[in-house]
Amino acid sequence: MQRQSSSFTIRHANSRDVGHVSDVLAESFYRSADRQVNFLTRRFTNWIYPLLRWGIVFDLSSRFSEKTPCYVCLVATHSTNQSQAIASLEICMRHVPVKSPHEFWLGHETQQYPYIFNLAVHPQWRRRGVAKQLLLAAEQTVKQWGFSRLYIHVLEDNQAASHLYDRIGYRLDSQEGNMGFWLLGRSRKFLLQKKLD
Ligand SMILES: CC(C)(COP(=O)(O)OP(=O)(O)OC[C@H]1O[C@@H](n2cnc3c(N)ncnc32)[C@H](O)[C@@H]1OP(=O)(O)O)[C@@H](O)C(=O)NCCC(=O)NCCS
Repeated sequence: MQRQSSSFTIRHANSRDVGHVSDVLAESFYRSADRQVNFLTRRFTNWIYPLLRWGIVFDLSSRFSEKTPCYVCLVATHSTNQSQAIASLEICMRHVPVKSPHEFWLGHETQQYPYIFNLAVHPQWRRRGVAKQLLLAAEQTVKQWGFSRLYIHVLEDNQAASHLYDRIGYRLDSQEGNMGFWLLGRSRKFLLQKKLD
């Protein structure tokens, strides 16, 4: 699988990408300037950063070597350096609640659907359409697997991601974390769904 735009290429990741993908994830989720955290949390995160990055390397390496059916990691590279991943996302299968007329009596039914996680673009490469390209490539992958729906989670205070998902057609499926929101002021988590044509 390889999709190319003017300057970015999207392809399946391999074990040689683990280091770069881990850098993208660690930078995006632990060190990005967008993260609104206080001074002490930032200092602490910087201090344990090598450990956090090592944890990501370990998890990614395990997922890559497990050869799970319907799991894939897509990476984006720039034409100036085809071997360096600058962005990535992963797709796996996940149980999601399906709405049923009997749910009041029988509780939530769940069904397995493709689910996107760990979408991240290195801070230096943002706002150039890379995430959008990765998400569109993910849709093609999922269609090839025979599915017509795709899910993703977003935290309600992640405005960049919320805008992005809304723009390419993801819609709210359900809301999680209401208790933490009301009691502890934590962000709610939205499960979004996109129906593929
Ligand atoms: C969210 C993220 C993946 C977006 O990546 P990106 O490559 O910059 O996004 P794109 O360039 O493809 O953006 C496409 C559209 O999404 C919206 N968007 C993206 N970033 C935005 C931002 N910071 N603010 C508002 N809208 C934004 C815009 O509508 C944008 O189109 P435009 O640039 O023509 O206005 C990136 O900011 C990131 O890695 N964030 C940290 C990790 C993260 O939050 N991942 C998502 C977990 S749910």
